[in-house]
Amino acid sequence: MAVTILGIESSCDDTSAAVLQDGVILSMTTATQAIHQKYGGVIPELASRAHQSNIVPTVDVALKQAGISLSAVDAIAFTRGPGLLGSLLVGTSFAKGLAIAQNIPLIEVNHLQAHVLALFAQDKDSPHALPDFPFLTLLVSGGHTQIILVEDYLSMKILGSTIDDAAGEAFDKCAKIMQLPYPGGPEIDRLAQHGNAGRFSFAKPRIKKLDYSFSGFKTSFLYFLRDQLVDNPQFIKDNLEDLAASVQETIIAILLSKFEQAIVETGVKDIAIAGGVAANSGLRNAVEQLAEKHHLRAFLPERRYTTDNAAMIAVVGYRKYLENQFVPIDIEPLARYSV
Ligand code: KG4
Ligand code: ZN
Repeated sequence: MAVTILGIESSCDDTSAAVLQDGVILSMTTATQAIHQKYGGVIPELASRAHQSNIVPTVDVALKQAGISLSAVDAIAFTRGPGLLGSLLVGTSFAKGLAIAQNIPLIEVNHLQAHVLALFAQDKDSPHALPDFPFLTLLVSGGHTQIILVEDYLSMKILGSTIDDAAGEAFDKCAKIMQLPYPGGPEIDRLAQHGNAGRFSFAKPRIKKLDYSFSGFKTSFLYFLRDQLVDNPQFIKDNLEDLAASVQETIIAILLSKFEQAIVETGVKDIAIAGGVAANSGLRNAVEQLAEKHHLRAFLPERRYTTDNAAMIAVVGYRKYLENQFVPIDIEPLARYSV
């Protein structure tokens, strides 16, 4: 009998639902909340309200697109954390309600583990190669930057983390200073394609072990712009593409120096990237080159599975279903939750 999992993601500002059958994604629907653009960042109270109005239609559409009735779903997997508590509560409560109504098991999912396993989301007619365990993942999202040794589907070890800003946050904050719309990461990616990355250089951190820091770089970028703007108030506008390319190149260089160190130290054969910043074209190219240099295989998740999505939640749900890892109905969401 096929195992059918309904995945629900509501940790930040995207409401997403996906149906997965035996590891294959049958459908995924995501409602993106445009409201936050107006404020240049996610407003938690508005996010949870938008989740409330989006969640029923989103799940409904995902089931319809998959051609699956609710009664055919074997278990509900939901994001327990980390994330915004008000947002997580909407998904958690909805998942509980469905589990009770359908009398099926409930599976809690760590959002970070889900980002890492997004790689295993297979599309129906185009299956792709998968890494062997253990492999090394660079997890880069709006809230996290971590080097993770993935020993098995549900067994992961954090080897390094950021001590201040996350990589996505660095992209978003630099973009904000450059007066680009939120979220800035994709904007910088787009502009960087036509820019000269060697034009400007910014501070890179010297941090011990496999940890990261982005606040020194961010400050050096801010001071550099401030000085330039004194002479030329149009400086940002005049140099937008070169600035974007230089910012992107610096962030990638910071990310890959520690990732490369971890590759050498662990001696893994397969490497991967995960999280929203894994959609970045420059990073994707750089990781492929890094793999070539060390004669490794690089695994890059499809772009739609890198940013927050329910397919990755369903993937973890499926793995936990196979291990009978279910949770009681009084489970609570967690704003902080390590892999
Ligand atoms: O994983 P994600 O969707 O949400 C979190 O769990 O944080 O990551 C969102 C982050 C944002 O900082 C966004 O700017 C960044 O991913 N991002 C990108 C790109 N697409 C999304 N950063 C750089 N280049 C991109 N193409
Ligand atoms: Zn995320």
